[in-house]
Amino acid sequence: MNSDLSKTQSFFELYDLRRSDALDGKRAHVVTFGCQQNEADSERLRGMLATMGCSLAERAEDADVILLNTCAIREHAEMKALSLLGRFKALRKSNPELIIGVLGCMAAEPRRVDMLKRDFHYVDFTLPPSEIHKLPAVIAEVVQNRKRTFVPYVSEPRIVEDIPVSRTSTFKSWVSVMYGCNNFCTYCIVPYVRGRERSRDSAAVIKECRELVAAGTKEITLLGQNVNSYSSDLTFAELISEIARIEGDFIIRFMTSHPKDVSPELIEAIRRYKGKIAPYFHLPLQSGSDKILRSMNRTYTKEKYLETVRALRAAVPEIALSTDVIIGFPEEEDGDFLETLDVLSTVRFDMVYAFLYSPRNGTRAALMENRVERSVMDARMARLIEMQNEISLECNLPFVGKRVRVLVESSDEKDGVLVYTGRTPDARLVHFKSCDAELGEFADVLIERAGISCLYGK
Ligand code: 5AD
Ligand code: SF4
Repeated sequence: MNSDLSKTQSFFELYDLRRSDALDGKRAHVVTFGCQQNEADSERLRGMLATMGCSLAERAEDADVILLNTCAIREHAEMKALSLLGRFKALRKSNPELIIGVLGCMAAEPRRVDMLKRDFHYVDFTLPPSEIHKLPAVIAEVVQNRKRTFVPYVSEPRIVEDIPVSRTSTFKSWVSVMYGCNNFCTYCIVPYVRGRERSRDSAAVIKECRELVAAGTKEITLLGQNVNSYSSDLTFAELISEIARIEGDFIIRFMTSHPKDVSPELIEAIRRYKGKIAPYFHLPLQSGSDKILRSMNRTYTKEKYLETVRALRAAVPEIALSTDVIIGFPEEEDGDFLETLDVLSTVRFDMVYAFLYSPRNGTRAALMENRVERSVMDARMARLIEMQNEISLECNLPFVGKRVRVLVESSDEKDGVLVYTGRTPDARLVHFKSCDAELGEFADVLIERAGISCLYGK
């Protein structure tokens, strides 16, 4: 069990000063790449910056501190972060006092950290995801001693509770329930950069959710690399049920689930608390070929995956489903790819996120032979997108003429008309015109038109 208190520490026990004035009157610019966990981490980075007396700068040019919260999931994500970092060199030249830190998953890769040390002299510090609570100490070190600091990756870190948080939204909230991953899918770098699985105390999670609901949040997303392996005094199904019993008008989402761990109890919880738990499930498939699934160490088969989908739909017929697919894993042949397409056409996902396989240093798959050629990957991707676009559109068409409930998230002026954007509980993106929609409130929207990735209405 992970609820052992010795595994959890309080931020304020680690730092006896509630407010360090190292950055008093200074401004910080925080850039976030990657997943929702990184978004949630950035809210904590901003929270800690605020306790250090630092306000936020919209533009990097106006900042005294720049924090780059990076993603390492694919080569492309790393390249994007490095190219942005390259642009900060000029800023540092014109302002030698500027502090630049690299955080997130790239800051946990020894190879990347070595490169930053060697080739990016203007990077003052690196801080891996499990160590973000050290931000005040690291910044104090950099400010006071002008000493470059590279905080090492920890494979079995503690959970630090009560890190100050500055939430971006008043109505959409991230709540981490567990961190890290023990699955070691052979393509994935996450277990090497976010460390072993550890779960937060259920009481701390429930308390955080209660406070958010009392403060008026409308949507809570429970986060974890694999939420279904949450383990404390409660299982994930028990935890989400407890949260669903909190009174108030809000919905609960969760990300991400591993198909091997979707329990009948979780499916039952989604059915039982239908109005509260969103009827939406993101269930990463990765491949439809048993051969590739085995080589990926996914520990389920195509048939087992389809069984889980059937169980979900039997319990909650209106549930929306989305998935992740990797195209071009080593040894993927045409027949394997067709198995993936077969799952897509059998399940008819509302949304599919497809990625070209990207070898990650240190993972088992990076050593595998028989890589798939880029041109073959591209052709498979094009074929998948063409097929899925048709399915996604067909999933959206039945909503035309119907009224849906939408949490209004943003508004934007287009050609002189205010267009609002929001999501339905089953995660469909809706653009609509309205005379009285309020951001952060639920609205009833009449759908007039359906697209591949969104609905349009009024
Ligand atoms: N290459 C391509 N896609 C990857 N993903 C994870 N690792 C890789 C990789 N090395 C995809 C998976 C996962 C999603 C978050 O990113 O589909 O579910
Ligand atoms: Fe990127 Fe994965 Fe790290 Fe999120 S956990 S930042 S997606 S590598």
